[in-house]
Amino acid sequence: MPQSTQLGDSKAAEIKAVSIGKTFGAFHALRNLSLDIARGEFLTLLGPSGSGKTTFLMILAGFTAPTTGRLVMDGEDITDVPAEDRSYGMVFQGYALFPHLTVEQNIAFPLKVRGRSSADIKRKVGEMVARVGLSGHEKKLPAKLSGGQQQRVALARALVFEPSVLLLDEPFSALDKNLREMMQQEVKRLHQETGTTFVFVTHDQSEALALSSRVAIFNHGELLQVGKPQDVYERPGNRFVAEFLGEINLLPLDALRLEGDRAAGQFEERTIVLNRTMPMIGSDAVAAIRPEHMTIGTGQHSADRNAITCRVEGATYFGASTKYHLRTRTGTSLAVSMPTAATLLIAPQTDVWVSWPVHQGFLLPVGS
Ligand SMILES: Nc1ncnc2c1ncn2[C@@H]1O[C@H](COP(=O)(O)OP(=O)(O)O)[C@@H](O)[C@H]1O
Ligand SMILES: [Mg+2]
Repeated sequence: MPQSTQLGDSKAAEIKAVSIGKTFGAFHALRNLSLDIARGEFLTLLGPSGSGKTTFLMILAGFTAPTTGRLVMDGEDITDVPAEDRSYGMVFQGYALFPHLTVEQNIAFPLKVRGRSSADIKRKVGEMVARVGLSGHEKKLPAKLSGGQQQRVALARALVFEPSVLLLDEPFSALDKNLREMMQQEVKRLHQETGTTFVFVTHDQSEALALSSRVAIFNHGELLQVGKPQDVYERPGNRFVAEFLGEINLLPLDALRLEGDRAAGQFEERTIVLNRTMPMIGSDAVAAIRPEHMTIGTGQHSADRNAITCRVEGATYFGASTKYHLRTRTGTSLAVSMPTAATLLIAPQTDVWVSWPVHQGFLLPVGS
């Protein structure tokens, strides 16, 4: 792990989920899910509401038994090991602080139930209070704390006994934007300092991309793709992943063909060239390009860029960036996002070029 002192001699765990399935009656909440969680990584489970993220986290925690499949931790089958013997740290929605205990009593609780000596408890709690920035608040009850401070207590209580795994289920979804960003940085730092394996659940794509060493994308109880934030964002394996991670422009291509190590296809009267990222020649595909990778111009464009003609329909100002809404000759709508400082004021109904570097476009199968 990078930087700083370790909290103790706790050993981060690695977990292998092998063909996990979970049904509730006839309903499949998880289907044949296999995933290797590496020792000390920050893995985020990302997906829309109802996609099975919490169900999978509850199975990892030992609160829910899978219908099929096995869980293996550090080489040992733990599928039937009860939650209290897994001893993971947890910060869940609705997994509240004890309201009648002070900050330090809340943090001390997991050490007390583990029968640690009072000297040990005093030292560990003191360290943890300082680590989450709550010095001076030790004697307060949770009701006297702000939402962010309460989440810090919850994090401290989950980490104080040096668990081998920390599970977090949408811990910041109730916080406002600024506080959420602060807590994200806090969690990232705690991950680096403890070296513990973190499994974090969110439905917020920017939170997932900002925090994680890897992101696992769920939909309808299936794991669709897992990879580093840059890889899943820049090279999504299918349309759901591409669209869930951010806005994307899709151009249907005709006459798809190979040209050396590149793919090419026709869009309206233009040839679009793409890096050949998938063996899908012969099938229908769309060219996919993120709005921030495209630029608008009225003059010449260089040969290493794709370009299509569009008409500007409008613009939305977002402060740091401005998003242009455009339409191609045959009616495909496009969005182009440019830094506001770099944009000229382009009036609606102007005909422009929209261009992008060849390497920023990729192919997605139609209908995926
Ligand atoms: N105990 C349960 N009984 C019946 N259905 C459940 C139960 N727990 C979860 N589900 C269903 O499983 C699906 C996945 O739920 P969940 O894992 O909570 O999704 P997420 O956390 O991604 O929002 C949902 O459709 C939910 O209604
Ligand atoms: Mg959930």
